[in-house]
Amino acid sequence: MNQSSILWRRASAALWLTAAALAMAADSAAPSTPPPPPTNVPAVVAPATPRQLPPPRLDAGAPLMQALKARRTQRQFSQEPLSPQLLGDLLWAAIGVNRPDSGRRTAPTACDWREIDVYVAAADGLFLYNPSKHALVPVLPADLRVQATVQTFAHPPPIVLIFVADLSRMKDAPETDRVFYSATDTGYVSQNVYLFAASEHLATVVCGMIDREILATAMKLRPAQNIILTQPIGHPLTPIPGE
Ligand SMILES: Cc1cc2nc3c(=O)[nH]c(=O)nc-3n(C[C@H](O)[C@H](O)[C@H](O)COP(=O)(O)O)c2cc1C
Repeated sequence: MNQSSILWRRASAALWLTAAALAMAADSAAPSTPPPPPTNVPAVVAPATPRQLPPPRLDAGAPLMQALKARRTQRQFSQEPLSPQLLGDLLWAAIGVNRPDSGRRTAPTACDWREIDVYVAAADGLFLYNPSKHALVPVLPADLRVQATVQTFAHPPPIVLIFVADLSRMKDAPETDRVFYSATDTGYVSQNVYLFAASEHLATVVCGMIDREILATAMKLRPAQNIILTQPIGHPLTPIPGE
């Protein structure tokens, strides 16, 4: 394994661990005297492996009517990371597979195109949620949370969800339909996230005010991929009023 592969694996692991735990793990995993690097062997970067998420807790959270009552925009985040369980539950609520026999999702899409992808921008990299595997696929070892929101926050949110429509999945629909339905379909995903946040006492804000060109370049998106909205989410800095 070469140096960049080692760094990428260490960076990815931080999604699951606190910074302190990661530092300890990296220290203990490192050999005391590393072997000398090979001199005449071409570098081979190991493909980044998807991270399996814990199965969603289907009996967790507040009743729907309570979540609807609590739903709100909250823009102040604490620096506490989301646990793997909470992150898995969040992504499943956003757009997870709720009918495995058909692969259909918690959020509807016009014509069942399933054109909306949810990317996760975190301190340790950019990831793509794979709903059918309920796993996070590493995309880039870069922190794109700043590019994913134009406005600044008192503390950076631990993650920013990025809703991207792949217009090439919308078959032969006219351009106006692709734009209309991909925006509509994103709204359902965002509302799922809002309701999950309300149910779990998390803070979230959906952001339309974003620089899509800069973000798309940073994410290395294909031309057919349109960024629709982003949505920072994390634990609230202070308890949400009324809770
Ligand atoms: C499509 C859309 C785009 C939004 N964009 C932003 C944004 O860029 N920045 C922001 O702080 N809030 C944004 N919001 C949040 C709204 O300001 C917020 O929903 C509104 O003030 C009502 O507050 P509530 O969500 O607590 O009901 C957006 C909301 C929607 C639906």
